[in-house]
Amino acid sequence: MTCTSETARIIAKAVSGEALWKDELVGLLTLTSPEETEALFQAADGVRRSCVGDEIFLRGIIEFSGHCRRNCHYCGLRAGNRGVRRYRMTEDEIASRAGMLGEKLCTTVVLQSGEDPFYDKERMCSIIRRVKNETSLAVTLSIGERPFEDYEAFRDAGADRYLLRHETSSPGLYRALHPGHDLAGRVACLRKLRQLGYEVGSGCIVGLPGQTADVLAEDVLLIRDLDIDMIGIGPFIPHPNTPLGGHPAGDAGLVLRMIAILRLVTRDTNIPATTALGVLDPGARRKAFNAGANVFMPNFTPDPYTSSYEIYPGKGPEAGAIAKASEGGYAALFEGLGRTIGTGYGCRVRASRGCAETPGTGGGA
Ligand code: 5AD
Ligand code: SF4
Repeated sequence: MTCTSETARIIAKAVSGEALWKDELVGLLTLTSPEETEALFQAADGVRRSCVGDEIFLRGIIEFSGHCRRNCHYCGLRAGNRGVRRYRMTEDEIASRAGMLGEKLCTTVVLQSGEDPFYDKERMCSIIRRVKNETSLAVTLSIGERPFEDYEAFRDAGADRYLLRHETSSPGLYRALHPGHDLAGRVACLRKLRQLGYEVGSGCIVGLPGQTADVLAEDVLLIRDLDIDMIGIGPFIPHPNTPLGGHPAGDAGLVLRMIAILRLVTRDTNIPATTALGVLDPGARRKAFNAGANVFMPNFTPDPYTSSYEIYPGKGPEAGAIAKASEGGYAALFEGLGRTIGTGYGCRVRASRGCAETPGTGGGA
C-alpha cells in the first residue's frame, strides 16, 4: 500500500483499538487518494472479520404506517407533504407479513413507521406481543420519539431492539432540519432506551446541507460515547416535495468511509449496508460489505403500501425487487463476497453486557 505515513499511522492506531482524536477522524473522512481509501476499507474489513465474523445478518423491514406527525426537512413522509398516499396496516396484516420472514432467512423483523400516534401504547404492545407469540423473530422497533413509559411498555411486551437515528450530531443543524425538536431530546431517548435494556441503533445522514467533515467526526464520537449497538449510515437523497428537494445527494464514497471508520472505532457493532446507499449506487452497497458492514435489511412491506412509503425517491422499486429475493436472490446479491447468511439473531455479542442468543420470550428456536 502507498499511504502517507500519517494516514498509515492513523489507520494502524485505529486497528489497534486505540481511541482516535477528532482531527484524526477528520483526516480519514477527507481521504482522497484511492490507495489510502482502499487501505482504510481493508483495515475495516479485517476488524469486521475478527470482531463479528463472516456472517451477514438479514433484518426484514415492515413499514406499517406512512403517517408522520413530524416535518423533517429531508423526508418525503413529512406531515407537510400533501402528495403522499398515507396508509396504515392492521395488526393482522403486520402479523401475517412477519410470519413470512422466516422463509426469507430473516431472524429479525424491523417494525418501522413515521411518528404515528394512531399506534398508541396499547396498540403497539398488542402488535409486539402477537409477533413475539406467533414467530421466533427478534423484534426491532423504529417508530420514533415516544414517552419513556411507552418505551418501557414495549420492552415489557417483548421488543428486543430500537432504532432511532440521531440524524446529525450538530445541535444547530438538528434544530434547522427538525422544526420544534432538538438533539438533546433525541439523545435523551437513546439513553433511556439503553437503560431499559434494548439493543440500541442510531446513525446519521451523510450529505445534509452545511454538514462538514468536522460534524461527521462528531457523529462518530457521539455514536462511540453513547455505546450504540447498531449503526445506520446512509446518503441524503433529495425528495422533490421537501424543503431540501433542490439540494444535491450525499456522496457514496463518504458514506463508505464513515462505515469503515465506525467499524474501526466501534469494533463489534452491527452495521448495515443501508437501503439509501443501494438506491444511490447499488455497487456501493456491495462495497460496504467489504468496508465494515455486516447487516442487510431487505424490505418486506407488502404491495400496495411499499411504493407509498417514499422517504426518498427510488426506494419503492428497489425495495420491491429485494422483497422478492429468494435464497437464490440473496446469493446473487452477496456473490463473490465470501460471506454466509447469518443463522442466529445477530445480537451484538459483548463480554461486558452479554447477549442472549434467544432474545425476548418468543416461540421456537
Ligand atoms: N435521504 C436519506 N435518508 C433519509 N431519511 C429520511 N429521509 C431521507 C432522505 N431524503 C432517513 C432518516 C430516517 C430514516 C428512516 O430514513 O435518517 O431516520
Ligand atoms: Fe417522519 Fe421519520 Fe420522515 Fe422525520 S424522517 S418526517 S420522523 S418518517
